[in-house]
Amino acid sequence: MTDTTTRDALIAAARDAASRAYAPYSGFHVGAALLLKNGDIVTGANVENASYGLTLCAETAAVAKIANEGWIGELTAVAIIGGRPDGAVLTGSDPVHPCGRCRQILNEAAERSRADIMVHCASGDGHAVKSYRLSELLPASFGPKDLGLIG
Ligand code: THU
Repeated sequence: MTDTTTRDALIAAARDAASRAYAPYSGFHVGAALLLKNGDIVTGANVENASYGLTLCAETAAVAKIANEGWIGELTAVAIIGGRPDGAVLTGSDPVHPCGRCRQILNEAAERSRADIMVHCASGDGHAVKSYRLSELLPASFGPKDLGLIG
């Protein structure tokens, strides 16, 4: 379980990442922050494309970063925040949950990390946070264990 201080630091990192979203089409800025076992935080933000379906979600961008660094087996928790910016302020009162594809992408890193990771979902205004285990968000998952990669 991520403690409250750690959770809040993760959400703050996700909020900072959201300020670097490239989202000119939806105007919806999402930030994700991944907590590694050594305490490091790695972030990502959504990257949209004129060919809308090619958009990369924040969580996917962040998992790609840790995979490329060789840290896919080091994940312990994630925070996600999303909303529409009003100047420098992110708005929105409902927690943003990871999309279905991102749940699967997160599951790859979680299984490799041998951890049922915590997923903290925050609203843009920061007032609402819901926390889950990934297994709640993606029950009966398919992953590396099914292909014999996890002992
Ligand atoms: N988005 C994410 O970055 N993560 C999610 O889990 C849900 C959706 C982004 C994709 C798109 O740029 C914008 O939010 C609106 O769908």
